Amino acid sequence: MSDGQFRIGIIGAGGISRAHTAAAAASGGRIVVSAVVDPVRAQRDALAQDTGAQAFDSIENLVEAVSAGLALDGLVVCTPPSARLKIAKAAFKAKLPVLMEKPIAHTLADARKLAAMSVKNRKVPAFIAYCHRFAPAMNLAKDLIDQGKIGKLTRFENVFACDLPGHEGKWFSDPKAAGGGAFLDMGSHSVDLFHAVVGPSAAVGSVFAHKWKKRTETAGTVLLRGTKKRGNFVPAGVAGVILSGWAETARFEVAIVGDAGMLSYNYEKPAELVFKDLNGQAETIAVESHEVRFARQLAAFADAVQKKAKSPLATFADGLAAAAVHDKATRLAK
Ligand SMILES: NC(=O)c1ccc[n+]([C@@H]2O[C@H](COP(=O)([O-])OP(=O)(O)OC[C@H]3O[C@@H](n4cnc5c(N)ncnc54)[C@H](O)[C@@H]3O)[C@@H](O)[C@H]2O)c1
Repeated sequence: MSDGQFRIGIIGAGGISRAHTAAAAASGGRIVVSAVVDPVRAQRDALAQDTGAQAFDSIENLVEAVSAGLALDGLVVCTPPSARLKIAKAAFKAKLPVLMEKPIAHTLADARKLAAMSVKNRKVPAFIAYCHRFAPAMNLAKDLIDQGKIGKLTRFENVFACDLPGHEGKWFSDPKAAGGGAFLDMGSHSVDLFHAVVGPSAAVGSVFAHKWKKRTETAGTVLLRGTKKRGNFVPAGVAGVILSGWAETARFEVAIVGDAGMLSYNYEKPAELVFKDLNGQAETIAVESHEVRFARQLAAFADAVQKKAKSPLATFADGLAAAAVHDKATRLAK
């Protein structure tokens, strides 16, 4: 590491890689993109051109360059989940810290292998990019819950849904490559958010809908049950109602209900966390926009590696916990 600068390699130069390069660009020079890997030349060349990074066609060639002297402090893995096992193996072997996009894997078997790999290589920092953990409204909501603002917690409701007709022809809805549809893609964010704000959970009911023939589900409606008490205001048994959709009207909302009031956050009104008492009397609490989440997440990755800081980043064990809920919900839906 030089002058505190944190040099990352982006593996997979598709859609979401741009959120991470924007996060690096917003870091005031602390985080720079030094390498990019993508088997598709046009993808890697475009990202390399925009960031000044060195381009590689495979993780093996990147690791070889690192052992020959290329300075790199961490990898941000943005491939489809089915490509991650080989990349994680190479990263752990080269002792390169990893921030890996969600979900951890496309199958529960791969999720278990990855979590075991992280335990075995515990000195190599490894995280899953569940970025909603870095939405300031969600952090404040957790604090307010623990202070008793809404009384004893009853229910956590979260909808992440919109219309994505283009997904019908992409790997996202290919059952083999993706391992799941709307509930894995959008719903894994919701499950991890439940775990971060409320605590661990189990799936207890699930209904999936399929708009596209022979493709993954386009909607998931899943009921979770919290499994662990926290402090005075989070009992065991809190309900989680998770709504995920790829073929419906856009909604990105969280409502957290207690026996003395509720908190709600609409991602389309990003600066407002709303508290309502039992009579419906509303109080608007100003918060920073969720749009800071990718920048905060990447800074937390740099802090975890450079300063060994304890961070709210999801671990591979957290990724496995979300994968286990996904697996159970998928079985319940059948
Ligand atoms: N955190 C979020 O809000 C968020 C949003 C969108 C996507 N994602 C996640 O990010 C991941 C990628 O999604 P995307 O929308 O960028 O997909 P994408 O299809 O746009 O991009 C994936 C890229 O990975 C490349 N790739 C495939 N195999 C590779 C390999 N072995 N090595 C290197 N590169 C490889 C592809 O060529 C492609 O350029 C998914 O897991 C998705 O769920 C997260």
